[in-house]
Amino acid sequence: MIHFIFKKKTNLTDVFPEGYIDIHSHILPGLDDGAKHFEESLAILSRLTTFGISKFITTPHIMHGVYDNCLSIITSTTSRFKSNYNEGFSLKSAAEYLIDEHFEKSIAQDSLITLDGKHVLVELSYAMPPLCLHSAIRKLKHFGYVPVLAHPERYRYYHKTPIVYQELKHAGCKFQLNLLSLTGYYGKSTQKVAQNLISEGFIDYSGTDVHNMQQVEALNKPFSITEKLIRRILENNMFFDF
Ligand SMILES: [Fe+2]
Repeated sequence: MIHFIFKKKTNLTDVFPEGYIDIHSHILPGLDDGAKHFEESLAILSRLTTFGISKFITTPHIMHGVYDNCLSIITSTTSRFKSNYNEGFSLKSAAEYLIDEHFEKSIAQDSLITLDGKHVLVELSYAMPPLCLHSAIRKLKHFGYVPVLAHPERYRYYHKTPIVYQELKHAGCKFQLNLLSLTGYYGKSTQKVAQNLISEGFIDYSGTDVHNMQQVEALNKPFSITEKLIRRILENNMFFDF
């Protein structure tokens, strides 16, 4: 009789190193399209801690006319949240800025909410790249910031022109991969581009970018690169330890 031994595939939830810092999520209640209320925030955090993630720099959207968040709103929501619940995890806040002309103007005027005093998480529209992309990057650098581009693999308009990724790296952007991209959550093309960016050595950091419980549970899936490689990428986030 022949016995087949099936090796269980490793899921993303099995590989988070101790002390992993998730630098991209939408966990704070009521600020954007993430957690809607306190209980949902808590449920998301509790579940993520069972995967071994207990440090978070959470990043509410700042998107002119859609999510008009600012330092005082984000800070007060964070303090209110932490005064009610602050056990089993460490949490601080930054923001995820949409690059558009309003953001570009604000770089010189406001002090931006950063991941660590210097690195600023930025995203692009999914519909088309902003005309001011390169001038915004130049301006960020001019004012001493380091742009960290959120989920570069998710901008479909770049999928057929990978040279753009090289240009963005040369312009001084760091890249933050969405971990769910490696499970196929956003589709095959995004998964492939994520893998390519990793093979090129372009990915600097990673994040869950979770908005809800459905995305949290989606992390409990196998990923499409080697365990060695994913562990190396995850460890890079220790840079943002706090
Ligand atoms: Fe996000």
